[in-house]
Amino acid sequence: MTRIPMARPSWDDDMRQAALQTLDSLHWVKGPEGRAFGKEFSEYCGAVQGTPCQSGSVALWGALRLLEIGPGDEVLVPSLTYIATATCVSLVGATPVFVDVEPDYWCVDIASLEAARTPNTKAVIAVHLFGQMSDDALVDWCHQHDIAYIEDAAQAHGAVSAKGIKAGGVGDVACFSFFPSKNLAVGGEGGMMMTRREDLAARMDALVNHGRDARLESHELGSNLRMSEVSAAIGRVQLHRLEGWLDRRRTIAARYHQAFANLDGIEIPEIRHGTEHAWHQYCLLVENPDGLRHALDAAEIDSRVYYATPCHRQEVYADHPQHHAAFPVTDTIAHRLVAIPIFHQMSDEQVERVIQAVVKASHQVE
Ligand SMILES: Cc1ncc(COP(=O)(O)O)c(C=O)c1O
Repeated sequence: MTRIPMARPSWDDDMRQAALQTLDSLHWVKGPEGRAFGKEFSEYCGAVQGTPCQSGSVALWGALRLLEIGPGDEVLVPSLTYIATATCVSLVGATPVFVDVEPDYWCVDIASLEAARTPNTKAVIAVHLFGQMSDDALVDWCHQHDIAYIEDAAQAHGAVSAKGIKAGGVGDVACFSFFPSKNLAVGGEGGMMMTRREDLAARMDALVNHGRDARLESHELGSNLRMSEVSAAIGRVQLHRLEGWLDRRRTIAARYHQAFANLDGIEIPEIRHGTEHAWHQYCLLVENPDGLRHALDAAEIDSRVYYATPCHRQEVYADHPQHHAAFPVTDTIAHRLVAIPIFHQMSDEQVERVIQAVVKASHQVE
């Protein structure tokens, strides 16, 4: 019996050919593939411009630089997320202010944002967690308080909001990751910054290139954060496949939903009304996460806990004033969210194997 992994990168002849052609062209950096990838992916998301870069973490750092956030500024971030959502704020010298997530959808909670807002609040980073869109009401909330909206869309390629807007087209700036396990990848590390604001678009390209203009004059602090042409060429092919891959993820999620709806000690993830989930992860909220994970392991199925240690409790934030703060929802669910395999290449037989193992485990933990 072969083990079922959490994810598997996609690689086919078209991607191989795109990569080889780009290498053969000897145009390895700063070329047409990167420009086309930025244009095509931002058009897909309904944004004005996309700038490929080296990772999702770098995209988040760039977003904060673009919005001129720095020392003295506060940025609201959920604590239930990947650490990069918070550390990008610290890296620009601003202060991450941690907030709780919604009990049902696990995205950033507007009441919690409201409670944490101060005159120094400059931005919120809303994570479309596991591929679930954040609340559309956030746009108005940010607008009302003159706070920038940064989307951490690292897990949400192709997710659609209740208003019919794709991840990447909602906030002032959006950040994507193309890490190999993500819904869209580029054959290595990669990310993209995206904006729907014309006033930020030109600076975005410059930022990944030492803040330089066409005459190579530097106007603002940036660095070399550019994506290689080979990666961009692979990303363009993957973008053509994305909608088909999302369909398959949604079919698998629907099958899981049906099979797990009435299990004891296991809750299925809720989908925000009117949205289309991108299912980067399918996380079950489990009473006995260790029991389920052991059972899956014995059945040769990988699983993961997201996120056992919320950001504010990580060692890197030992001196942060909120290091010991209580967040009722995050504290209750953080160590109980068990992700099970969901990737578009999964066969029906693999999906059924996962279902049988989860159902069997739920009977055992009763
Ligand atoms: C929510 C979130 N934000 C940011 C990142 C950072 O992306 P990268 O690993 O490409 O730097 C990730 C990657 O896992 C993520 O899941």
